Amino acid sequence: MKLKILVGTMTNTAEYVAQAIEMDCAGLIDEIEITMMDGLSIDVFDEDALYLICTSTYGSGDVPDNARALYDSLDTNPKYLGHVKYGVIALGDRTYQQTFAFGGRKFDERLSGLGAQRIGDLFIHDASAGTMPEELGTAWCREWLPVAVAAMTKQPA
Ligand SMILES: Cc1cc2nc3c(=O)[nH]c(=O)nc-3n(C[C@H](O)[C@H](O)[C@H](O)COP(=O)(O)O)c2cc1C
Repeated sequence: MKLKILVGTMTNTAEYVAQAIEMDCAGLIDEIEITMMDGLSIDVFDEDALYLICTSTYGSGDVPDNARALYDSLDTNPKYLGHVKYGVIALGDRTYQQTFAFGGRKFDERLSGLGAQRIGDLFIHDASAGTMPEELGTAWCREWLPVAVAAMTKQPA
């Protein structure tokens, strides 16, 4: 099984988190593939994979520029995503009180609205806390991945 990490970023932090996960969690799943969100559409979810949305937040609670096409596509070309299971890593900064981690939260809302199933809680990182997103993100993923893999392999009743 493949874990496909879709990265939305402005200044690369989300990409570093994805790369740390790729190295640290390699033994927990057959394959990990990192894909930058640039120019993607909803069709990226056609693949038989486990998905991890890893994105920051910009503007006033917006998805990063490179995530815009994919995010919009979920709205303009909607299709049922009932076969999709995913997790979310949402990077933000709590000093933006009104829009904290909205990038990841917005993807979560749109994906679940199309029938995709989120496995586990969002992992939210606060840049103002002074903690390392790569460290906390990989620690979260080590817990999340076995649960998500089990959910993927469970036979439908
Ligand atoms: C101009 C600007 C706007 C931002 N707006 C928000 C925001 O609305 N909400 C939030 O939670 N974080 C916001 N952030 C914080 C980033 O999401 C956070 O620093 C993140 O770790 C950056 O990740 P990246 O390097 O992958 O883009 C903003 C940062 C900048 C520089």
